[in-house]
Amino acid sequence: MEKKTVFSGIQPSGELHLGNYYGAIQNWVRLQDRFDCVYCIVDYHAVTGRTGRESDKFQDPRHESLATMSVQMAGDLMACGIDPRRSILFVQSHVPEHTELAWVFSCVASHGDLTRMIQFKDKADRSDYVSVGLFIYPVLQAADILLYRAAKVPVGEDQVQHLELARRIGRRFNTLVGEEYFPEVEAELTAGKRIMSLADPAHKMSKSLGDKHYVGLMEEPDAIWKKVRSAVTDSGEQVGGEMSPGVANLFEILRLTGAVDDVVDGFKAQHAAGKIRYGDLKTAVQDHIMRVLDPIRERRSRMSDDEIRDTLAAGAARASEIAKATMAGVRARVGVGPPPR
Ligand code: TYM
Repeated sequence: MEKKTVFSGIQPSGELHLGNYYGAIQNWVRLQDRFDCVYCIVDYHAVTGRTGRESDKFQDPRHESLATMSVQMAGDLMACGIDPRRSILFVQSHVPEHTELAWVFSCVASHGDLTRMIQFKDKADRSDYVSVGLFIYPVLQAADILLYRAAKVPVGEDQVQHLELARRIGRRFNTLVGEEYFPEVEAELTAGKRIMSLADPAHKMSKSLGDKHYVGLMEEPDAIWKKVRSAVTDSGEQVGGEMSPGVANLFEILRLTGAVDDVVDGFKAQHAAGKIRYGDLKTAVQDHIMRVLDPIRERRSRMSDDEIRDTLAAGAARASEIAKATMAGVRARVGVGPPPR
């Protein structure tokens, strides 16, 4: 039987954090064993984050260019275990068919569906300039996935609505051309599908909220400890009560970082008895985070930018082959492009 294709993407708008890692990347790494995997650094999506204010510039001298950040992100992903010998790893803008298919899909997607996208509404509320690009962001995402005819998409929970839209777009395209050209898209969630901010556990861990809201994979241990130590908890005295969101999040991170059951259960029993010392819990969380991050950082320190750039060039060449074939099929079915002789 032919292997199914897996596709996923990440924006190069800053460093990888624990939310990305446990919500998506760990799954990207695991799926490499069983599927043909295509992983993409979505720089065109990240442009929407640079154009949300009247005063913004595409390239602000205070920030690195997206091209540089994409190389850094690729290195971080490889250090996490994305293996370019088995998977295709590349940058979205290096394969122009993504934006071409996005145009076709923008003629397929419904305006009403796009207005219901939660991320769009959130981001639009926080921006004083709302570009059309921000609005049709999920259309480009659908193009990313379907260009490779991917059926499985490993993501965190915040992307599920976008994937439902991708499925609808694929289905509607199929109806419009009268053929099952694209497969059904399905989200693949991990156990850590929604990691919360340590500083404000009502919000998901995210780069866009600011430095104290995420734990970066490449951050110095001291900087990580500062964030873990000041994580929001509660008084710890409520016997048998519900866990507050901040405490539940620390337990979740402890479990995901592979702490043995005895350690987790020990803290849980203390919590249930109203006798937990959060300082001890936080020390255990820090130790386990560093056990996961140390080997990743070590692998990262041995990589050169040249090696990463070569990997990305090879990845773009492989991605291009697939993308060109899909796009030729799309053009033929839409009835555009140079007529056959
Ligand atoms: P991005 O760059 O925001 O995030 C990358 C991945 O990390 C997951 N994630 C989280 N998971 C759990 N808890 C968190 N706090 C957390 N924060 C982030 C995200 O769910 C995501 O899987 N639109 C996408 C990028 C994209 C894409 C695609 C994804 C573009 N095209 C095609 C899949 C398929 C995004 O902005 O992810």
